[in-house]
Amino acid sequence: MKVALRWHVLLIGFVLTTGAAFAADNPTPSTKTAPLALRPGHAGIASANALATQAGFEVLAKGGNAFDAAIAVASTLSVVEPESSGIGGGFMATMHVASGNRDVFIDARETAPAAVNPKDYLNPDGTPNRDTALKGPFSAGIPGEPAGLVWLAKHYGKLPLADSLAPAIRTARDGFKPDNRLLGSIEDEQKNLQRWPASAAKFLPNGKVPAAGDIWRDPDQAHTLQLLAQYGNAGFYSGKTAKKIVDAVHAAGGNWTLKDMSSYSVKERLPITLDYRGYKIITAPPPSSGGVAIAEILNILSGFDLTKVDQVHRVHLVIESMRRAFRDHNDYLGDPDFVKMPLNMLLSPYYADGLRQTILPDKATPSSMLAPSSGEDPGMHTTHFSIIDADGNMVAITATVNYVLGSTFVADGTGVLLNDEMDDFALVPNKPNVYGLLGSKANAPEPGKRMLSSMSPSIVIGPDRTAVIGSPGGSTIITQVLEGILAFIDGGDAHDVAAHKRFHHQYMPDVVMTEPGTFDASTSEALTKMGYTLKQREPWGFMNVVIWDRRTNKVDAASDPRRADGLGKVQ
Ligand code: GLY
Repeated sequence: MKVALRWHVLLIGFVLTTGAAFAADNPTPSTKTAPLALRPGHAGIASANALATQAGFEVLAKGGNAFDAAIAVASTLSVVEPESSGIGGGFMATMHVASGNRDVFIDARETAPAAVNPKDYLNPDGTPNRDTALKGPFSAGIPGEPAGLVWLAKHYGKLPLADSLAPAIRTARDGFKPDNRLLGSIEDEQKNLQRWPASAAKFLPNGKVPAAGDIWRDPDQAHTLQLLAQYGNAGFYSGKTAKKIVDAVHAAGGNWTLKDMSSYSVKERLPITLDYRGYKIITAPPPSSGGVAIAEILNILSGFDLTKVDQVHRVHLVIESMRRAFRDHNDYLGDPDFVKMPLNMLLSPYYADGLRQTILPDKATPSSMLAPSSGEDPGMHTTHFSIIDADGNMVAITATVNYVLGSTFVADGTGVLLNDEMDDFALVPNKPNVYGLLGSKANAPEPGKRMLSSMSPSIVIGPDRTAVIGSPGGSTIITQVLEGILAFIDGGDAHDVAAHKRFHHQYMPDVVMTEPGTFDASTSEALTKMGYTLKQREPWGFMNVVIWDRRTNKVDAASDPRRADGLGKVQ
């Protein structure tokens, strides 16, 4: 067995003998990829937590495939990384099914409850009420993650759901040592957690933030996961769990009904696919804005040979492409089941040709020449993991409860921390959300509608190598994944792609956010002279990448060194 270890990235020489199980009755819209000649013969998983990565490998060892492993990773993250994702939230998955060479997209995004009312997000004076948008039961959408896990097991997995959920149930029941990120998140959100007794009981045992090294148990979540394992959707969306969640929401003044829960459904959608310089990119369609934006940016960039321009002009062209894509993000995108979007236009190379013509060769285009917003620190929350199994099945999943520790509202008796995804709607027209993103009517809240996301789980299939890639980071998810894709195309290995320095522009505010060290002094000076305002910020991302080199048939996995190093753990 070959073991290459970083603290949460394992490559283990599993040899799985059968192809991925795929239910023939599955009504999946999918695209086809030309058969990849080889199977890797071993698997790679990169996630944000060592226990989650181990859970994935445990399930592969039981005979599971990448999709079973994804259930194990996501459910374990719900226990050990609740600040970022969980069964009270949702996820989006871009996947490649090796048997049949199909690319599919699973949308397990949250939905607005039927009684959603924009007035609930306004103060009496008509100004936005940021508290109801981000904390407590009004901020939460109906969770999609449990249904997404059930869907993965039913349509793509080889193992019973209960087997894939077993590591998470065990970890929640027997306990684990929270990492510093979780402890820091609890510390930061202590005041909000204290507002709701069940949140305080879960996250502040004995009234305090757990000490480093303490074993932390979550018996309520273990029980809720057990019911999901036993009864599937009925174990969460109806029966005792649903009643407890709806009762808790009501007791805290919220407006969910049992019907909101029982009518939740997962959607399979056609992924966005595009060709960029011989690389096939498979990525997230609406209700994520990520894939449309990445496609638009790459379509604009495809008219330039980035290998032939100097660093300053390369950055200039990428920023200007980002600016134009984010403008469209604000104007057009929403839930495809509710709004008509001009996707043919946005994804067309001719549209990109037109946008490219508006880029000045040596000068920034002020966003005010196009339209306005304001910005907050995109922050770090949400989680991404990437998996390639021995048969060449691939899963890129980005999962979220939105902001750090979601709504901070735990439904009594369930261990379920609800998301605060309602803030991803344009709750108040032309007022920015927590990521500084503006929205139009296309993303206005409506009963049962999915809020727009930036999640961009992606698969990139090049002539010789394949990458599974994604990152958390609010609106910066899109640009981080884009830059990761470009780093991969430039030849980077998994570590290079996860580690590469980042910058971000989202049209408004009209600033280029940069990571310390992204640009040297002369590049910064040249960009400033071209009219750019550069602003450093931290933190950046938690990219998790798995790359399969089909020439050598080696799989390589890496996690973002920015976050992993802070914990200093190696397994
Ligand atoms: N909640 C972050 C996103 O979906 O983009």
